[in-house]
Amino acid sequence: MLADVKTPSYVIDENKLIDNLKILQKVQKEAGCKILLAQKAFSNFALYPLIGEYLAGTTASGLYEARLGFEEMGKENHVFAPAYKEADIDELIKICDHIIFNSVNQLVKYKEKCLAAGVEIGLRVNPQCSTQEDHAIYDPCAKGSRLGVTADRLKLELDRDSSVLDGVSGLHFHTLCEQNSDDLETTLVAVKEKFGEYLHQMKWLNMGGGHHITRADYDIDRLVHLIKDVKSEYDLLVYLEPGEAVALNAGYFVTEVLDIVDNDIKTLILDGSAACHMPDVLEMPYRPPLRDSGEWGEKPFEYRLSSYTCLAGDIIGDYSFDTEIKIGDRLIFEDMAIYSMVKNNTFNGIPLPDIYLLEQDGTTELIKRFGYEDFKNRLS
Ligand SMILES: Cc1ncc(COP(=O)(O)O)c(C=O)c1O
Repeated sequence: MLADVKTPSYVIDENKLIDNLKILQKVQKEAGCKILLAQKAFSNFALYPLIGEYLAGTTASGLYEARLGFEEMGKENHVFAPAYKEADIDELIKICDHIIFNSVNQLVKYKEKCLAAGVEIGLRVNPQCSTQEDHAIYDPCAKGSRLGVTADRLKLELDRDSSVLDGVSGLHFHTLCEQNSDDLETTLVAVKEKFGEYLHQMKWLNMGGGHHITRADYDIDRLVHLIKDVKSEYDLLVYLEPGEAVALNAGYFVTEVLDIVDNDIKTLILDGSAACHMPDVLEMPYRPPLRDSGEWGEKPFEYRLSSYTCLAGDIIGDYSFDTEIKIGDRLIFEDMAIYSMVKNNTFNGIPLPDIYLLEQDGTTELIKRFGYEDFKNRLS
């Protein structure tokens, strides 16, 4: 029960996770594609055996995530990074099935080593097709973006050396962020127009993440059609690598009100922090959903939610409630499994929240407790 956990803590909801996994499994089956967990969003490896029952494997942003996927899920293991260090590649070729490169430079540098180790290699392309304006820092297609080879650049490289794509078994694009399949459709038009000529020689196409497949209004039928079309047009295997969709709405962040400060605005001082425990609230930025609350002005009791860090801007958002909030009350943030635990930090020496699993039968089990040593061990 969420009322019993020590605060602050993250609670992963196993039932919600399974609901999501079943939806993703259905997409794999109907579309005939493979779906990988993007570990950058959710790396709670205690759940990897469960996730591995439904998904084809993991994808990583670099060596450490790749190791985690290899050690804890042990299924297909892919990696994409904007660049690789030589020492990292030597390890990655031992544990990855697919290594995806961001530039022709990197591809040429490591191609032989990967192929000799039996690793499939891919090239990330940039279709230069922005389909969202809400979150500029999550737009890999913004002008001048370093992410992926543009069609003009690839032509130039092929003019210089026509063998650049030899040995490459797939293309990869990642352009979406919390988007529906209509935006994927728009993107695919650009991908086909700019890179279609190369797709015929490829074994697979990886369509990246950002597909909000498990959101209630997501158009799954359209996604399935799009994947089937691409498969039949180019005769290749399709991969998706969502992070958010895997653990969407499958976790909570439970906090306690430590104090209430009234300097023009009534501010709740929580033992949770945007800066330390929900960094995307400040980075993205967004106002996290909070159980039993409304917008500012919607309900009679209004409060600004903040934290016990020193950062003046460590403000979670403005909310309203049906009843007056008191010191010692618990506040529960929703949708906190993704991009929270993987991004948290100990700024100010604020403790890392514990991690609990809300099991299928409704019991909560502590799966990780952090303490002073975790703060100290990151420093010297
Ligand atoms: C290359 C790549 N793949 C997959 C993902 C996962 O995206 P999401 O969690 O939005 O589904 C990202 C997110 O940044 C990414 O950069």
